[in-house]
Amino acid sequence: MSKIKTHLLLIILLATAMLQQAAAQTENAISEFKPGAVWYDKKGVAINAHGGGILYKNGLYYWFGEHKVEGSAGNTSMVGVHCYSSADLYNWKDEGIALAMSDDPQSDIVKGCVLERPKVVYNKKTKKYVMWFHLELKGKGYSAARAAVAVSDKVTGPYQFIKSYRPNAGKMPFYPQGTPEAEKVNCAAVADNDKFFCRDLEGGQMARDMTIFVDDDGKAYHVFSSEENYTLHVAELTADYTGHTGKYSRVFIGKQTEAPALFKRNGIYYMIGSGCTGWAPNAARWFTAKSIFGPWEYHGNPCEGPKKEITFGGQSTHVLPIAGKKDAFIFMADKWVPDNAIDGRYLWLPITFKGDDISIVWKDSWRLNDKSNFSLGN
Ligand code: DGJ
Repeated sequence: MSKIKTHLLLIILLATAMLQQAAAQTENAISEFKPGAVWYDKKGVAINAHGGGILYKNGLYYWFGEHKVEGSAGNTSMVGVHCYSSADLYNWKDEGIALAMSDDPQSDIVKGCVLERPKVVYNKKTKKYVMWFHLELKGKGYSAARAAVAVSDKVTGPYQFIKSYRPNAGKMPFYPQGTPEAEKVNCAAVADNDKFFCRDLEGGQMARDMTIFVDDDGKAYHVFSSEENYTLHVAELTADYTGHTGKYSRVFIGKQTEAPALFKRNGIYYMIGSGCTGWAPNAARWFTAKSIFGPWEYHGNPCEGPKKEITFGGQSTHVLPIAGKKDAFIFMADKWVPDNAIDGRYLWLPITFKGDDISIVWKDSWRLNDKSNFSLGN
């Protein structure tokens, strides 16, 4: 065979193989959500992005979450924050580890620490991607309760760790209009509900379960379980999103809310969270407010269907607005498996609106285009 013929044959064989692979990928393409099933990435590997959040940028969704490892120590961070990308929210490409744990024993994020609930936002002014997470220092259980931040020029990373600390040291809360006098802190005569707040006033407030919310005006807020998980704080971030300004309010004081997830619709701020029962599921709770600092109104449990009293076995992590689709938000939750953390599952369900009220109805499987999702009788 001449050289040209051999080359042609090779090209044809290669093209056939590529077409076959593309066809196989299309065949395996996912076109529905199955809450609680194992979800695979495009290479067929189980997605490993727990306690996650999603950033939409330039036509793609980027999912960031905790990379867990096998076994009971799987909730300690040995690898880092895993990133996946998708155009359709069903099929996810593995983009690798966006923030890697360090080998340096002096680093706050040394392997073996606890890194939870990473959330990434984009800062239009600095053109940087900013990742916040809850950090527990290695070997110290859950006592450090720090907020931590990392930045990157590229959405998929690598993110550079900047710092970890307890926010708002020495700062008293901001009281939105309508705050009852009884809710105002007096550390000279400490009320029971304020004892952890006053204890931590000087050194900074505890920061555990968290989310980041970017408002329409570009201001960002860090919302976190503080005061030994008794009270939520809604705290303003600096213009570059890498620090706290010192302005914050206390929300749902003494009621032990974890796993906050925020979104905004028709000028109303919504928050979905959970109670506080370790890795075990409990009832979700939702709130609304006209101003981000509150007052926030409590509305009870939004879930409907089997196991609604334990959030279908999960715990909120993020609410995702679907790009280009009005009033379409996905409630994202984790089903934790503390004995083998890597086997934790993802529960995503549509948020249904009736007027300004929400509900989250269990579905064994669902699609973004199913007519019955997202709104009822609006
Ligand atoms: C519940 C929190 O929501 C999780 O993020 C994690 O911190 C566990 N508690 C630890 O028990």
